[in-house]
Amino acid sequence: MRKYRIAVIKGDGIGPEIVDEAIKVLDAVSVKEGFELSYKEYLMGGAAYDVFEDPLPEETVEGAKEADAVLFGAIGGEKWDSLPRDKRPETGLLKLRKALGVYANLRPVVVYDELINASTLKPEVIKGVDLLVVRELIGGIYFGQPRALEEERAYNTMVYTKEEIKRIAKKAFEIASKRRGKVTSVDKANVLEVSQLWRETVEEVSKEYPEIALEHMYVDNAAMQLIRDPRQFDVILTGNIFGDILSDEASMLSGSIGLLPSASVGEKHGLYEPIHGSAPDIAGQGIANPVATISSAAMMLRFQLGEESAADRIEKAIKEVLHEGYRTKDLGDFDAKEIVTTNEMGSLIAQYASKD
Ligand code: IPM
Ligand code: MG
Repeated sequence: MRKYRIAVIKGDGIGPEIVDEAIKVLDAVSVKEGFELSYKEYLMGGAAYDVFEDPLPEETVEGAKEADAVLFGAIGGEKWDSLPRDKRPETGLLKLRKALGVYANLRPVVVYDELINASTLKPEVIKGVDLLVVRELIGGIYFGQPRALEEERAYNTMVYTKEEIKRIAKKAFEIASKRRGKVTSVDKANVLEVSQLWRETVEEVSKEYPEIALEHMYVDNAAMQLIRDPRQFDVILTGNIFGDILSDEASMLSGSIGLLPSASVGEKHGLYEPIHGSAPDIAGQGIANPVATISSAAMMLRFQLGEESAADRIEKAIKEVLHEGYRTKDLGDFDAKEIVTTNEMGSLIAQYASKD
């Protein structure tokens, strides 16, 4: 029997509730498809700080490295906001990404026909949107040195090496060749040197992929184009901070940030997490949308474990459940038959994913 070990990091806020639903669905499809998943839980973020005074204990890093894949919920919350930077929950996540070497963050944005009215944008603008943000995840201004917070000034450094740009660009071109064959590289080359190197390097890499159409776009324009005409995009290739911002923006095309999954991959490891945060304001109320995490679990099956047909089952089940009119509260009344809880949503998807 095929067996996989999953490191599970539930995190803070709604993290535990949404991850529990993803595990429920994973268990259902593994039974159907004849493989076995074992889970081991680790602490990260505020939950880890509360126990170890460290947002990323060594045993979490070791456990994540040993596992075949890492499934993660969300971290952070007001409770830990005033801690020094190295103790903050977010620092735990950034360090884990770095330790796993997951340099490519893939964030697909798909507009489900069933939810076309849930978006704040007009249906005719978003119908059929199917794009993928390829965000560089372990470099750029998030990690650049020097950085400091002084009394009267503070600074960070946006730095990219040619090697870092090359590997993420290659990833984007490879993926685009299996999609619609278009890459939009987003930068701020009219102002930043680091973006100039980005643009030149992406241009260089593109020579190895003559079948892919490459265009460059400034990030401010990209932010506008995403809302004006999102269907023009296939693969958006960009750096860490621009990708962070643009992917939140793009999520609203789909109607709710609670729908968008992500995969963070490198040479070896894979970290699968929803793109949304820990939403402490709604934690424990049973109203969080587990779809982003369940969908991240599907990406884990497909990209990390090679369990394509189990992944298909989950993605199909999500569509069907939405088609039937089941909605969590974030999606409100848009074409809803019934508003369901986090737990009910997970059970419905598990049930649909188990159908013969
Ligand atoms: C994300 C989040 C993180 C990021 C935070 C929580 C550090 O916003 O995954 O998009 O900025 O990368
Ligand atoms: Mg973000």
